[in-house]
Amino acid sequence: MTMRAVAITKPGGPDVLAVVERPSPEPSRGEVRVRVRATAINRADLLQRMGAYPAPADSPPDIPGLEIAGEVDAVGPGVERLKLGDRVFGLVGGGGYAEQVVSHERALAKIPDGLPFEQAAAVPEAFITAHDAMVAQGQLAGGDTLLVHAVGSGVGTAAVQLGKALGCFVVGTARTPDKLERAKPLGLHAGVVADANKFADGVRAHAPDGATVVLELVGGGYVDEDLRCTRPLGRIVLVGLLAGARHEIDLALVLRKRLRILGTVLRARPLEEKIAAMRAFEAQVVPLLARGLVAPVVDTVMDLDQAGAAHARMASNAGFGKIVLRC
Ligand SMILES: NC(=O)c1ccc[n+]([C@@H]2O[C@H](COP(=O)([O-])OP(=O)(O)OC[C@H]3O[C@@H](n4cnc5c(N)ncnc54)[C@H](OP(=O)(O)O)[C@@H]3O)[C@@H](O)[C@H]2O)c1
Repeated sequence: MTMRAVAITKPGGPDVLAVVERPSPEPSRGEVRVRVRATAINRADLLQRMGAYPAPADSPPDIPGLEIAGEVDAVGPGVERLKLGDRVFGLVGGGGYAEQVVSHERALAKIPDGLPFEQAAAVPEAFITAHDAMVAQGQLAGGDTLLVHAVGSGVGTAAVQLGKALGCFVVGTARTPDKLERAKPLGLHAGVVADANKFADGVRAHAPDGATVVLELVGGGYVDEDLRCTRPLGRIVLVGLLAGARHEIDLALVLRKRLRILGTVLRARPLEEKIAAMRAFEAQVVPLLARGLVAPVVDTVMDLDQAGAAHARMASNAGFGKIVLRC
């Protein structure tokens, strides 16, 4: 049996992505095969396409794709939780831009009834990343002030909703006012336009005591500003480096305010840690999705053979929410 997939034919721009035929993967012990109905684009896929972010050893080296939604279509030995036909979504180490992918059954969760595949595929990376970073690592709790950067990003749109659902005061930044306006119905209480990487004064105008937790999706010069608008004992959780990996920061502020700066990645974690993040998501976020208290924000849905155009859209920074590929 074969399946269609999108392969990186050589390192380069969006035009190096091409639809290819590949053998269907077979599930090993504890794994299921998913007939993928939709996947979604991530910044890591763009880096992988450019040759700057190799896939982990247990994933196809040339098929990108970190998240999927679909139905179980084959079950390996020893599988206990899932059965043929179950509608599931979750994270994979790679290979998501394909009609079929195998995953450990415990790295998947059941999709709430009524959530279509094209919406469900927009959930795992955005919501698991935001939830794990803010709650598991940043210890965000109700009543806290949460600062979310790039509120129009996939992760940002999830973070704003989770912050509101937890009962936080949510402040956010974007480089354009229109994205701040679009984030208000998601639960953004106050928006600040980040102008030339400056936002600390604007955040303090809305939250004079400063942020308890910062979801730092931008990195670079943003971190120095974070230090200026984070309250004592606050946590800055570094998730993305869109503005760069190097910048001078004022360490005296870290000391004086007794701040914590935490770094996190999902893809490189061992399976057990990914499963732990998935279980926390299943227990704490899936019920919110099922009740409609949070929902994926989908910017665009495209077909598998439009993967190049989907990458170009993400790189343009024009989007709001997730870019989804039908498989
Ligand atoms: N650590 C992990 O495990 C993990 C998992 C998922 C994602 N991430 C990271 O999280 C970040 C967000 O991912 P995503 O998929 O949600 O992104 P996305 O949907 O592609 O959105 C990114 C947004 O960031 C803003 N932006 C881009 N470059 C910027 C810059 N130089 N300065 C300030 N803002 C900039 C843009 O919004 P504006 O137009 O408003 O500026 C853009 O729309 C990325 O860095 C990604 O790599 C990390």
